[in-house]
Amino acid sequence: MKRQIVLASGNPGKLKELSALLREIDREVLPQSRFGLKTPEEIGLTFVENAILKARYVAEQTGLPAIADDSGIEVDALQGRPGIRSARYAGENASDEENLKKLLKEMEAVADTDRQCRFHCVIVYLRFARDPIPIICHGVWEGHLLREPVGEQGFGYDPIFYVPAYGCSSAELQPEVKNRISHRGQALRELVKKLDE
Ligand code: IMP
Repeated sequence: MKRQIVLASGNPGKLKELSALLREIDREVLPQSRFGLKTPEEIGLTFVENAILKARYVAEQTGLPAIADDSGIEVDALQGRPGIRSARYAGENASDEENLKKLLKEMEAVADTDRQCRFHCVIVYLRFARDPIPIICHGVWEGHLLREPVGEQGFGYDPIFYVPAYGCSSAELQPEVKNRISHRGQALRELVKKLDE
């Protein structure tokens, strides 16, 4: 029987991407919804803490190994904000558009030379709830903040994230390209490698 892992997320896109990669190393990924679980409040101060608390909750409730991720965008001119608050930057139930608008407004007066930013993705794997040595994988994707949204692909801050190596925003990249180079793609591949060791 394939070894099972529960994904601590309600996002169908994440489940699909992770399942495809982990199938290659003979793991089956189950969504937390299969166990009637919802994501707990993210009360940590770092991506690592939040990913661990989500994975720990699921491992505790299911008795199975668990994977969780936490991601966001960090802007140098804002001392790292939105950071762990990226998904709810403009308020608890804010839309992607509202979050992006708030960020653009805050960055209005910041010069083109000072708009460095990056996406981070931390993925954590716990063998059991009190695993003292979680596997922690971290992907980073460097870019510049644009002044206006460009492109239709992706989600979140993609339309204002300029990718220097490709000369366009990440919302202009085809999904396969983005998955290959993004913070999430990097962290996922690192996790697959470590689980396969
Ligand atoms: P979470 O990790 O699902 O909680 O997502 C955190 C938030 O960070 C998302 O809601 C987006 O606002 C932002 N974010 C994370 N990864 C990306 C990305 O690849 N593109 C655009 N925005 C992202």
